[in-house]
Amino acid sequence: MENVMFSSAAVQTPWQGPTDSNLSSSRTNPIIFPSREYQQYDRAPRRTEEFVEPNLSLEDDPMIEPEFRGIVGSNSRLKAVIENIQIVAPADTSVLILGETGTGKELIARAIHDLSPRKNYPFVKVNCAAIPSGLLESELFGHEKGAFTGAIAQKIGRFELADKGTLFLDEIGDIPLELQPKLLRVLQEQEFERLGSTRTQRVDVRVVAATNANLAPMVAEKRFRSDLFYRLNVFPITVPPLRERRDDIERLVRHFAKKYAQRMGKHIVSIPKATMDALRRHTWPGNIRELQNLMERAVLLSPGPQLRVPLADIVVPLAVNDDVQSSALEQVEREMIVRALQESNWVVGGVRGAAARLRLNRTGLAYKMKKFGISRPT
Ligand SMILES: Nc1ncnc2c1ncn2[C@@H]1O[C@H](COP(=O)(O)OP(=O)(O)O)[C@@H](O)[C@H]1O
Ligand SMILES: [Mg+2]
Repeated sequence: MENVMFSSAAVQTPWQGPTDSNLSSSRTNPIIFPSREYQQYDRAPRRTEEFVEPNLSLEDDPMIEPEFRGIVGSNSRLKAVIENIQIVAPADTSVLILGETGTGKELIARAIHDLSPRKNYPFVKVNCAAIPSGLLESELFGHEKGAFTGAIAQKIGRFELADKGTLFLDEIGDIPLELQPKLLRVLQEQEFERLGSTRTQRVDVRVVAATNANLAPMVAEKRFRSDLFYRLNVFPITVPPLRERRDDIERLVRHFAKKYAQRMGKHIVSIPKATMDALRRHTWPGNIRELQNLMERAVLLSPGPQLRVPLADIVVPLAVNDDVQSSALEQVEREMIVRALQESNWVVGGVRGAAARLRLNRTGLAYKMKKFGISRPT
């Protein structure tokens, strides 16, 4: 029998023999059972490393409360976020969701819509950072035929498409300054004109905005209008980064491992405890999106019933510096560096190295790696 089923108890070892005390020493000195003893445990896995590693079952503890609208986690700060979603959803207030990339801002925006009286009307998303600033106005508000060169037909904007529903404005910090008065007007008066038209359109749209940028300094530097900021900031929801709610990591690992195993038709039931410990220590600059992607890869790479996580793909921090509040800009910088290093296979210099990708010189990149505590995974 190839697969070993584990019950839902927190820590499981796949055999009944050794006790915890000889487990720790077994990490350096693998215990090999005499063959007769081995045969006694005929349900045990065959590979030696599976003998020496304690395993955790992928089954969730049945005592854990079910997830809320696909939002997995029970950390107290995440619970506060969920409470805020429940408070604000039925109201028609605009909401500003703040948090690093991959923390679940879009998931939260959808939950707000789905719990609102607008749930049977459209949820329309616009990523303000993904649309060239010159095209954003027409994307949001639409245009008439001939409004500008290239406007060969009339276009209905996202505000009109979202009528009676919710418009999710992602990366709101990237909205150009010159477009901000028009956005403020539609938020306040629910009216606007399509480009190239003098006719005023009226819409009934609730706006939920999100950003990973800190808007307050942008307001101070006059890169973001203060009146728009206050209008959006009526009900801010701040989503904590994953490294500030490490107690949710284990549950998220189980959630995504099971999800991808099911999707790929694989039978995966356990994860080595040491792997889970490493995942819990990681700082997750890409937050839940990073964890989700890693789990998808892990499931794909796992040959048997035990989840094999490619730990070399994650960056091990030099020191856990949770107390150091890095700026949003530094976080983005760190993330870019990590990505460039991964893409260049941790080669720093040379034409294919990460420094060249980042248009930095080698020493400059080495300095930044040290500063951000980035080192090649072992
Ligand atoms: N708490 C969570 N539980 C389960 N999945 C989550 C959670 N938070 C985020 N995700 C998933 O992680 C990915 C990134 O989330 P997303 O909402 O797009 O993040 P953001 O908009 O903040 O960048 C999505 O696939 C989302 O479904
Ligand atoms: Mg997003």
